[in-house]
Amino acid sequence: MPLKIRDIPQFPEYIQGQTDHQFMANARAQGPFARDRFGIVSAFSMAHLNLIMDDRWTRQVELETMRAAGVASGPMFDFVRGVMLFANDETHRHRRGPLVRSFAHKLIAELRPEVARRTEALVPPLAGAGSVDFLTALAGPLPAQMIAAIVGAPDKDIPFFADHVYSAIRGLSLCSDEVRIASDHDMGWLQDYVDRLIARRRDHPEEDLLTGFLDRVRGGPLDENEVRAQILGLIVAGSDTTRGALTATVSQLLQHPEQWAMVVEDPETWAAPAVAEGLRFDPVIGALVRFTTEPREIEGVLFPPQSLIAVSMLTALRDPAVYADPDRFDITRTDHPRLHPVFGGGPHRCLGEALARIELEEALKSLARHLPHMALDGPPPVLRGYGAVRAVSQMHIRC
Ligand code: HEM
Repeated sequence: MPLKIRDIPQFPEYIQGQTDHQFMANARAQGPFARDRFGIVSAFSMAHLNLIMDDRWTRQVELETMRAAGVASGPMFDFVRGVMLFANDETHRHRRGPLVRSFAHKLIAELRPEVARRTEALVPPLAGAGSVDFLTALAGPLPAQMIAAIVGAPDKDIPFFADHVYSAIRGLSLCSDEVRIASDHDMGWLQDYVDRLIARRRDHPEEDLLTGFLDRVRGGPLDENEVRAQILGLIVAGSDTTRGALTATVSQLLQHPEQWAMVVEDPETWAAPAVAEGLRFDPVIGALVRFTTEPREIEGVLFPPQSLIAVSMLTALRDPAVYADPDRFDITRTDHPRLHPVFGGGPHRCLGEALARIELEEALKSLARHLPHMALDGPPPVLRGYGAVRAVSQMHIRC
């Protein structure tokens, strides 16, 4: 007889001072699944991550998290209602399709010189500047500048929309009422901002992504909320993720000086593997979540349709069945799967992967060239959270 979901053990108690990785590793040590206080089932292995990315028997969450939080209207609700990430099947294809061509690997690769130009403007002035706030100096501005360039927002607006993005995105995870209210307010601000961008492009078309997208969606089937939500989705998905990933990767490199020395010595060879390992070791995405659409028995547990399963990235990316010595940060490892799991899988696999990788690689190369002797100034930053985009704390570097 298979076990039922209610037979799955609860998460172990959180022990004060534990890191997210330690907490999740303890849960994984109990067995293949654990249940949280809301009854949501977490799974831990790479096999389970691959399993839930298979849309033949799972589907993406739509408005359920909003409804569970009692939210039935407002800017965040409209965003979740309209964006590709929280849609399935034909609705998802209609929303993603008009952007896929613009984000094709080849087109994005052509942006590399632009990314390099921007890192070369941001990094060299830091040399000799003493203690530098890394998030403000580089990890925040670079992705925000690139997303602004892609959606045609002027550089002068970047600091405003970046701050609103970091706040708005917190409303996508389980959060307090206070955070939800702030997030809704900031999402409202972003909606108005994107509406103005769209109106300007409709009046004055240019040779850019936004004009191309607006051309492709003219005449349907997307409604105005969906048109706006796809552009908002790029801004939201493309800023905080890369910011956290760059900070976490640089932090790990500086905590492993012998590996940072390898990047400094030969950035062309080691920047890309360092990025892949940084994304694995302390992932900026905490978990991926799906509903089951049909009954399925996994490891002796029967999941009926409509079961919510969250697979922890923290444990899947340290799965000993995939990675040798998984708790070791090692830019020379050769056991990364061909497609990096931190970008998800199936129909929702990250649209911005190529851009994110280019930003991370060019940032590392520029840091290696101009700040080879940089060091952490103070405690290393912490990525915190088990779901959606994990929040990154401050990092100061001595330049
Ligand atoms: C290190 C940086 C990044 C990571 C780790 C990351 C990770 C992810 C993951 C895991 C998903 C799938 C979520 C799910 O299946 O539930 C996703 C989706 C998405 N990402 Fe990223 N992302 C990053 C950067 C970016 C950037 C720079 C952009 C945009 C320019 C972007 C745009 C998107 C979009 C539009 C989706 C939705 C795709 C869909 O639903 O079809 N991401 N990302």
